[in-house]
Amino acid sequence: MYRDIGQILYSREVIDERVKELAAQVMAIYREQTITVCVVLRGAFIFAADLVRHLPQDCDIVFVRASSYADSTKSNGEPELRIPDDFDWTGRHVLMVEDITDTGNTAVRIMAALNERGAASVRTCAFLDKPACRQVYVKVEFVGFELEGEPWVVGYGLDYAGMYRNLPFIGTLKPETTEVPAP
Ligand code: IMP
Ligand code: MG
Repeated sequence: MYRDIGQILYSREVIDERVKELAAQVMAIYREQTITVCVVLRGAFIFAADLVRHLPQDCDIVFVRASSYADSTKSNGEPELRIPDDFDWTGRHVLMVEDITDTGNTAVRIMAALNERGAASVRTCAFLDKPACRQVYVKVEFVGFELEGEPWVVGYGLDYAGMYRNLPFIGTLKPETTEVPAP
């Protein structure tokens, strides 16, 4: 696994510091409000676990699922969502936690779905942001790190073809790892 990594962009230590800062920003906005943290699986599971442990507010934690990439690095533009039916979103102040905002399609669709289900407010928090890849406008209120260009990154919950989520840092893959062999 480690041998496939080209470059480490954010070390575990740098990530820890940034997550603490993000939690402070979140805290300052919600203050005494109870937050419904909506974790977008699978990628956000590690980030969300770290973030919520720095929040002193009352938090309700819900998991939704989105998948748009199958095994490639190209979004199909229409993420499939799975939002639990047995949770009442009415009047909730939702903080949607994503691993990375790329095209923006996932965030826009989840926000629309939660608003439709009666949430009082929906804000988004993404550990990483790739503004150069945006296809639809979405306001990402809390961002850990902004990536320049269109790199594919892995680790800290993010995958390539299902792998590398358990790396404790964010890194890029060596080009030969994602190249499709010539027929
Ligand atoms: P969006 O709908 O295009 O914004 O896609 C968001 C989802 O795409 C994220 O939650 C990730 O699962 C996945 N994704 C986008 N870019 C990357 C990347 O560089 N590495 C790993 N996953 C990514
Ligand atoms: Mg993914």
